[in-house]
Amino acid sequence: MKKATKFLTMTLAMVMTVCTLSACGGGASKGNTITFGTNAEFPPFEYVTSSGVIGEYDGIDMAIAKQIAESNGMTAAMENMEFDSLLVALQNGQIDAVIAGMTATDERRETVDFSTPYYTATQVMIVREDSDITVATDMADKKICVIQGYTGEICVQDMGYTYEAFKKGTEAVMELVNGKCDVVVIDSATAQKYVGDNEGLKIVEDPGAFESEEYAIAVQKGNTELLDKINSAIEKMLADGTINELAVKYTEEVMAE
Ligand code: ARG
Repeated sequence: MKKATKFLTMTLAMVMTVCTLSACGGGASKGNTITFGTNAEFPPFEYVTSSGVIGEYDGIDMAIAKQIAESNGMTAAMENMEFDSLLVALQNGQIDAVIAGMTATDERRETVDFSTPYYTATQVMIVREDSDITVATDMADKKICVIQGYTGEICVQDMGYTYEAFKKGTEAVMELVNGKCDVVVIDSATAQKYVGDNEGLKIVEDPGAFESEEYAIAVQKGNTELLDKINSAIEKMLADGTINELAVKYTEEVMAE
């Protein structure tokens, strides 16, 4: 009996030591890992490749996520899912943070908290080279394609136009290439990649119609512990030029593919 008690005490002490070392049971970031969610359909920010910076995932966001974790002495894990599911997965606690070229919008701010923004983007129109679309209002009588849940969809909705929504950017662009739609509204950097990948397409900008957007990392509302970690890393990477370098590097890389 005495022996058993001693054994139990020792075991408990060991478990407690292990817990302290790995910070288990502490807060949203389980153990020493930050589990990010993304939708790896958005080059140059996130895409699947044979050897990525986090598992099979590579891109500007993936490199940023890795550095955020490392600069806090942690490891980054990545879960790939549909863009639409990301904020739900965050609310459920399935992931700790979302890094997905996600625009910090007021609507999203109602349910999650955003980090310091790390990239400025804008919506653009991808059209065929012979298109007569030169400004956003030219879309009025055209067949418009957007990607479900992206800010491009919200923009077109707000303009009051009808459209068709696709799950992936590549699917919408295929419709455009095949002449089944006339214009795809999507974020600028990703649009450049699609235009580079497909013959006969061009980008039309209309800064008067599309406001600039800021990409930021989302965490659960009130998770200041993780947000502080993320912000201190982002602010450092912005100040020392790391994010700028990553943006240039990955943009060149995906355009060369
Ligand atoms: N910036 C746009 C938004 O926030 C599109 C983001 C798409 N990102 C992605 N990883 N698929 O809605």
